[in-house]
Amino acid sequence: MNQTSSTSIAALEARGISKYFGAVTALEDVNLHVMPGEVLGVVGDNGAGKSTLMKVLSGLHSASKGQLFVGGQEVHFSGPRAARDRGIEMVYQDLALAGNLRIDENIFLGREQLRGGIFINHNANMRKAQEHLDKLKIHVKSVSQRVEELSGGQRQAVAIARATAFDAKVVIMDEPTAALAIKEVRKVLDLIKDLKNHGVSVILISHRMDDIFYVCDRVMALFRGRNFAEAPLTQTDRNEVIGWIMGNKNQTSETSESHDLN
Ligand SMILES: Nc1ncnc2c1ncn2[C@@H]1O[C@H](COP(=O)(O)OP(=O)(O)OP(=O)(O)O)[C@@H](O)[C@H]1O
Ligand SMILES: [Mg+2]
Repeated sequence: MNQTSSTSIAALEARGISKYFGAVTALEDVNLHVMPGEVLGVVGDNGAGKSTLMKVLSGLHSASKGQLFVGGQEVHFSGPRAARDRGIEMVYQDLALAGNLRIDENIFLGREQLRGGIFINHNANMRKAQEHLDKLKIHVKSVSQRVEELSGGQRQAVAIARATAFDAKVVIMDEPTAALAIKEVRKVLDLIKDLKNHGVSVILISHRMDDIFYVCDRVMALFRGRNFAEAPLTQTDRNEVIGWIMGNKNQTSETSESHDLN
């Protein structure tokens, strides 16, 4: 896939997204964009709508209202596969890896047939998996290790490797560090920086201010299903962002959707 998008066009944009579950309004008129190679942090209290928004962006839920654009082009995702075909990948919090399969099998799971043959070429898969892990500086003893033998951090790394194995443009991560020990957290965050350096956009949901302030370029807050505030990391601080999560806006950080995309 060639990268024709100019730097002024968002890799992914959502405009006016609402999502209703029966009588429950999970999202109301939400806007979001992430630029190529940008790491966007999304924060908000429990139930603020973060995961629901990510599921809309990754094709798992269809929006009740609103539009999605990939590289400036409007898209309608019929499911996660359709989103993936447009380079939008999601790493779920529960990882969705198959523990009893090997690392290389997990990386290519469900996509072997993309190679067109009836036989899965294990040696080629192993080699490609190793190359991809090397590119991301992910160290495992062997790609033939089974995922259930890995640590939480290594599993998260394999999930990210899986998400980026096929030209992902945007990788969405829903609390990827929530269950990890500190050392493993750092590895996952460094992996996000690496993706950024490869031009991949990352949307990171996290409750941890350390994560947000270590890796993000910009942070946006949802409050009760709506945009609440956003700012480049250089123009805000932890206390302000924590305030946003609780619905307090005392400084000048209004949500800015002045971003011109087309
Ligand atoms: N499938 C569903 N059916 C009905 N309501 C839902 C569904 N999914 C989410 N909701 C509701 O939508 C709202 C937003 O939920 P969501 O999971 O997006 O929040 P969140 O910001 O990810 O919270 P957390 O930080 O706890 O993960 C909540 O009120 C939730 O109960
Ligand atoms: Mg959530």
